[in-house]
Amino acid sequence: MVVFLLRRPGYIDMSIRSYSAMQPLPISVVGAGYWGRKVIREILSLAQTTRRVSLHSVVDNSPSTLEQCRKEFGSLKYRLNYGDLLSDSEASAVHICSPNPTHFEVASELLRSRKDVLVEKPLALRAREAYELVRLAETNRRVLSTGHVHRFNNGVTELKRVVDSGVLGDIYYLRLNWTGFLPPQKDRDVITDLGPHPFDICNNVLGEWPTKITCKGKGYRTRTSDEVAFITAEYLDGVVANIELSWLDRERRREVTVVGSDAVARLDCLDQRLVLRRSDSSDPVSVVQSNTLGDEILHFAECVEHNGGSEGYTNLADGWLGAGVVRLLETSKRSLCEERTVQVQPLESVEIFAGEQTQKGFRKLAT
Ligand SMILES: NC(=O)c1ccc[n+]([C@@H]2O[C@H](COP(=O)([O-])OP(=O)(O)OC[C@H]3O[C@@H](n4cnc5c(N)ncnc54)[C@H](O)[C@@H]3O)[C@@H](O)[C@H]2O)c1
Repeated sequence: MVVFLLRRPGYIDMSIRSYSAMQPLPISVVGAGYWGRKVIREILSLAQTTRRVSLHSVVDNSPSTLEQCRKEFGSLKYRLNYGDLLSDSEASAVHICSPNPTHFEVASELLRSRKDVLVEKPLALRAREAYELVRLAETNRRVLSTGHVHRFNNGVTELKRVVDSGVLGDIYYLRLNWTGFLPPQKDRDVITDLGPHPFDICNNVLGEWPTKITCKGKGYRTRTSDEVAFITAEYLDGVVANIELSWLDRERRREVTVVGSDAVARLDCLDQRLVLRRSDSSDPVSVVQSNTLGDEILHFAECVEHNGGSEGYTNLADGWLGAGVVRLLETSKRSLCEERTVQVQPLESVEIFAGEQTQKGFRKLAT
């Protein structure tokens, strides 16, 4: 079997596409549940305020969900099957908000049909699937973005600036609390569901991936899936990130604390409040709150627009990031299952699907 892996590109694509910078990008939303409806509202709002995107259609395989959408959003193009988008040339960009186990199937079919896609987190359930999506995006010269919405959180951007400025001194460790209360979940586990954002924030703030992961977790009300997990991620320079994920806590927390030798920075990702604490003071750091979801969607539209031009453009939440995060989720689950610390697999040894087509930029890994 011939296996190909992509080099992380500088995001330059010279292909010609029909989307013009002057036209709003028509986006279809696949999956109109809790998150999909938030996305639909945001696209409709951005269509009014910026005219840079428009809502092409809403797809959900549940007739009753589409009926609820009809009541809330009125007359739009509603479809029961995302397969209808594949041959629709006007449906050029798709935001995938269907459940996690569907991401790989839906995204790979859309990419093969040369659609630009923004896939909600996690990009896929398995690393090999996530990297296959990256490969498909490159082969078909499409934009692949991942719903790492905190890339657009000004609080996180400011936290990164504080860390990079050296004001915290030597960075010792990070603590991330991602908690809330959910009733017992069927076919969902807390690592897949809550793990992506904390891992992505660590990568954003530290600029590196961990090399080792230790994870403990447990399902208290259900034996079939983990409802709480405690993950320790170790980095090459000795920095450690401690991540608490929970569906059992009555308090909804989305907090990041960075502990350094000179000061501690604490960010509440929900209200984007950042505080810097030293032994004798506690100072708020000014953050202009961002609309994370709106900025994520506009950035996706910009990526689509620039992908058709001749200039290089950086996708802040590209498929590589998404796939890197999936690799860490997979490693955490392996650590939990095998009850030991697990080395994060180097990218080179992640098993990738056999390539369909070679092109410049692909690295042949094995035969
Ligand atoms: N970025 C964030 O902060 C964030 C927050 C919440 C959820 N999410 C992500 O959004 C996605 C959806 O989560 P949710 O909480 O809205 O789930 P949900 O169960 O409320 O909604 C999923 C919807 O997808 C539909 N669906 C299922 N299979 C489908 C298919 N094959 N084709 C079309 N529609 C299909 C279902 O009928 C349902 O309406 C998940 O991937 C989740 O991780 C992201």
